[in-house]
Amino acid sequence: KMVAEPVNVNEFRELARRALPKMYYDFYNGGAEDQYTLKENEEAFAKIVILPRILRDVSGINLSTTVLGYNISMPVMIAPTSMHKLANPAGEIATARAASACKTIMVLSNSSTCTLEEVAACCNAVRFFQLYVYKRRDISAKLVQRAEINGYKAIVLTADSPRIGRREADIKNKIVVPQPKNLEGLLSTKFVSDRGSGVEALANGTNDPSFCWEDIPWLKSITNLPILIKGVLTHEDAIKALEVGVAGIIVSNHGARQLDYSPATISVLEEVVHAVGGKVPVFLDGGVRRGTDIFKAVALGAQAVLVGRPVLYGLAAKGEYGVRQVLEMLMDELELTMALSGCSSVKEITRSHVRTKHEQLL
Ligand code: FNR
Repeated sequence: KMVAEPVNVNEFRELARRALPKMYYDFYNGGAEDQYTLKENEEAFAKIVILPRILRDVSGINLSTTVLGYNISMPVMIAPTSMHKLANPAGEIATARAASACKTIMVLSNSSTCTLEEVAACCNAVRFFQLYVYKRRDISAKLVQRAEINGYKAIVLTADSPRIGRREADIKNKIVVPQPKNLEGLLSTKFVSDRGSGVEALANGTNDPSFCWEDIPWLKSITNLPILIKGVLTHEDAIKALEVGVAGIIVSNHGARQLDYSPATISVLEEVVHAVGGKVPVFLDGGVRRGTDIFKAVALGAQAVLVGRPVLYGLAAKGEYGVRQVLEMLMDELELTMALSGCSSVKEITRSHVRTKHEQLL
C-alpha cells in the first residue's frame, strides 16, 4: 500500500507503525493491562460536543497563550516521553528543535536518550524537566540541580509511578532498552531483565515507591524552580497539591500506561479545575489527537494540553520534520475549530462552548 501524505495525527500513527520495529511501536503505542483507559482517553473526548456561536468576526484567530508566564504559540505542549532515540537517531534533540520551531514548550523526560545538557544546548525552546524520584535521592537531587543550571524553567514531578504499570506487550516482546542517558556515571547498578520487560526492570529498580506528599518539602528545598505535579485525577489530590504549594497541576493518567481503569483524563478535568479554583493553572494530557480535543479541554478549564504519542509518531515517521508537522496539524485544526465555533482567541473558549456526555442525557 502506498504511504500518502498524512492528513491527521492518526495517519501519523500508521506511518510510525510501518517505520518502527514491532517491539518499539508496541512500547510507544501500548497501555496497561486491558488497555481500557487507553481507549477511554480518546473515546471520552468523542462524547463531548461543541456548541458553536455563529456570526462572530473570525477573520483573525489568535491561538497564543501563556504557561507559567512564558508565551507559547498555542495551548499545546510536548509531554515527557522516554527514549526518543528508539524512534529516531537524533532523539530528543529532534523533538526539542521541533518544539522550538513551533514556539512551544517541551517537557524533557527524566528517561531521555540524550542528556539534558545536550537538549539544552541544541535549541532555544522553553524547556521543563520531568522528574521521577529515585531510591537514590542524591541522584534525583543532582538531576534537579543540573536541570536548573541548564535553564530548564520548571520541574514536572511525575507522581503516578511508584511502580510501573503492567504493559503486557513489553513483557511479551521482552523489550530491551538503553539505560537512561542522564544517569550515565551516576548509577553503578545496571537494571536489566533477562526475561520480561526491560522497562519494568529499570523503572522498578530506580523509582522510589515510598516517595509521598510528606516528601514534597524536600523537593522544594533543593530547587528554586516551580514544581508542576503530574498524575492528578481526583479533587482530593488536587487539594493536597495546592496544600504542598505546587505551581501547577497536570491531570494525567500517564497515557493509560499506569493504572488501568483509571478515568479518562477529560472526564475528570472539570472536577480538578473546580477544586483548584483558579489558584494555579491546570493542564491535561491523554488522548489529545485533534484540534477539537484541545478546544474541549480548554473549554473545560485547562490552561493547555500536552501531547505524548502524537509527537512520537511524528518523530518515528519523519524525525524533526514529522514532529513539526504533527504540531502544525494540531495548530491548524485548533484554529479552524475556533473559527467555526466563533472564538477568535483562546480566552473566548468557555464552558458554554461544550456539552459533556452527562449534559446530553438531561
Ligand atoms: C510516556 N509518559 C511519560 N511520562 C513521564 O512523566 N515520564 C516519562 O518518561 C514518560 N514516558 C512515556 C513514554 C511513552 C512511550 C509514552 C506514550 C508516555 C506519559 C506522557 O507524559 C503522557 O502522560 C502521555 O503520553 C499522554 O497521553 P497521550 O498524549 O500519549 O495519549
